[in-house]
Amino acid sequence: MKDKSEELSRLEELRKLGEVAKAGGGEKRVEEQHKKGKLTARERLEILLDEGSFTELDMFVKHRSHDFGLEKQRYPGDGVVTGYGKIDGRPVFVYSQDFTVFGGSLSEAHAEKICKIMDMAMKMGAPVIGLNDSGGARIQEGVVSLGGYADIFLRNTLASGVVPQISAVMGPSAGGAVYSPAITDFIFMVKNTSYMFVTGPNVVKTVTHEDVSFEELGGAVTHATKSGVAHFACDGEAECLIGIRNLLSFLPQNYREEPPRLKTNDKPDREEPGLNTLIPDTPTKPYDMKEVIRLIMDEGAFTEVHELFAQNIIVGFGRLDGRSVGVIANQPAVLAGVLDIDASTKAARFVRFCDAFGIPLLVLEDVPGFLPGTDQEWRGIIKNGAKLLYAFSEATVPKITVITRKAYGGAYDVMNSKHIRGDMNFAWPSAEIAVLGPKGAVEIIFKKEIESATNRDEVEAKLVSDYTSKFANPYIAAERGYIDEVIEPAKTRARLVRAFEMLESKVDTNPKKKHGNIPL
Ligand code: HXC
Repeated sequence: MKDKSEELSRLEELRKLGEVAKAGGGEKRVEEQHKKGKLTARERLEILLDEGSFTELDMFVKHRSHDFGLEKQRYPGDGVVTGYGKIDGRPVFVYSQDFTVFGGSLSEAHAEKICKIMDMAMKMGAPVIGLNDSGGARIQEGVVSLGGYADIFLRNTLASGVVPQISAVMGPSAGGAVYSPAITDFIFMVKNTSYMFVTGPNVVKTVTHEDVSFEELGGAVTHATKSGVAHFACDGEAECLIGIRNLLSFLPQNYREEPPRLKTNDKPDREEPGLNTLIPDTPTKPYDMKEVIRLIMDEGAFTEVHELFAQNIIVGFGRLDGRSVGVIANQPAVLAGVLDIDASTKAARFVRFCDAFGIPLLVLEDVPGFLPGTDQEWRGIIKNGAKLLYAFSEATVPKITVITRKAYGGAYDVMNSKHIRGDMNFAWPSAEIAVLGPKGAVEIIFKKEIESATNRDEVEAKLVSDYTSKFANPYIAAERGYIDEVIEPAKTRARLVRAFEMLESKVDTNPKKKHGNIPL
C-alpha cells in the first residue's frame, strides 16, 4: 500500500512539471515576446478558444537531439503547445508555436506533436488551426527537422477538402516553413509583427541586390495586397484570433457536415427599394457592389476574404435567412469589375473552398469581360481565367447568379452561367447580356458601313443605339431560359432566400475520376 506522503509528492511532481512546461523559454524570453507586441503561445489560445475549453496534449514531449549542446536544453513541450478545444461550442484542434523556446523552431518532436493533432482532427472531423511563430526548421537537427516539415505538408494536403484548415502567421514564417500555411485554406497575418518569405532580406540583397525590409518583403500588408498569399491582414493579435472565430462561424466542421445555420432577426422577405435605383443611368458609371451585398445579406453583415487583393472582384461570407453563403461579386467600382489574372485566381480558390465544404454560392455579376493587354496575355490570362471557369463548372453546391448590369463575352459564361450548371440565374431589368459591349460590337460587325459613311459618327451612333436596344437587356437570355427570372432589384433578398431554401435538397455529382486537372 502506497504511503500518503509518497502520493502527495507524486502529485507535487506532476504539478511542478506542468509549471515548468507552462513557463516555456522563461520569463526573460516571455518579456521579449511581449515587448515585440506579441502574445505567448498560451495567451493566444486563451483568446482563440472558448473559455476553459482547452485540453493540452503532449505537454511533456522533449526533443531527442544530442548535437550542438541541445542535450542540455530540453524544454518540456519543445516549442509548441498542442491540443483541442472549442470555438462557439464546436471542437477544433490547435497548435500554437512558442517562440520563447528555440524561437519556436520545428524539431522532429515538435513536428510529431503537430502531426498528432492533425491526425486526430481528420479522424474526428474537426477544423485544424495553426498559430505559427517560428524560426523555421530547428537548425541543429538538420534533415530530421526537414522531414518533420514534410510530414506536416503531407497531412495538410491530405486534409485539404476534408476539414477546414486555418493558419495564423503571428511571427516569422521563413523558408520552406511557409508551405504549410500556403496549403491551408486561409492565412491570417498580423501587421508589423509577422512576415512570410521563402528567402529573407539578406539573401535577397545578395542575390538580386535589392534593399528591402522584412515588412516590405513579406509583411501582412504586402501579402494581403501584392501577392495575395494572406487572406486577412489584422491590426494586432486579438483581432487576428477573433477573426478566426468569426470565420469558423460560417464553416461546417468537415466536408460531410452542413454549414451551421444561425438564427436571425432579419426578415427573409425584407425589400430594399434602394436597390431599384442603385444602378447608374450611364453604363460606364461605377457603383459600389458592396452596397448591394450589404443590402441583401442578413443584418447587412459580410465577412470579406482577400479584401485588399484584386479588389475588382469581391469574395466573402454572409448569411441569408441564417444560412452561410459564399459570395463572389464583380466590383464595378474597381477597374470596372473586369476579370484579370488576380481576380480569376482569387475567386477560383474561393469557389473551390466553398464547393469542398458544401457552402452555397451567390454570384453578383457586373463584368465587362476579361482584361485585354500584353501583360495579361503573356502572364497567362488564358490559363488563369480558365481556373475560374473550371471552378464554377465543377462546383456541385447550390449556385445562384444575379446579373445586375453587364454580362459580356466569355465572362458571361464564366460567372456561373446557366450553361455551367447555375441553378437559378436571375437578372435585374438593367442587365445587359451580349457577346460584346455595344460600341465594340458595332465597330466590328459594321466596320465597312462605318468606314464608307460620310457622316461616320452619326452612323455609328445610330448603330450603337440599335444594338443597345436589341441586346443591352436581359430578355433575349430570358427567352431562352438562360435567365430563370428577371426580378425587381428591391425583391432580390426575398428571391434569394426562397431559392436557396428550394436548393437545400440539391444533389449533383461529377463523373467518376481520380481527380480533375485544373489549369494551373
Ligand atoms: C534553432 C533557432 C532557430 C532555428 C531561431 N532560433 N531560429 N534555433 N533553429 N531555426 C533561436 C535563436 O537561437 C534564439 O535562441 C531564439 O530562437 C530567438 O531567436 P533570435 O534570433 O534571438 O530572435 P529574433 O532576433 O527575433 O530573430 C528571429 C529570426 C532569426 C529572424 C527568426 O532567429 C532567424 O533568422 N532564425 C533562423 C531562420 C532560418 O534561417 N530558419 C531556417 C529556414 S529554412 P536563444 O537561446 O538565444 O533564445 C527552413 C526549411 C523548412 O525552415 C523546410 C521545409 C521544406
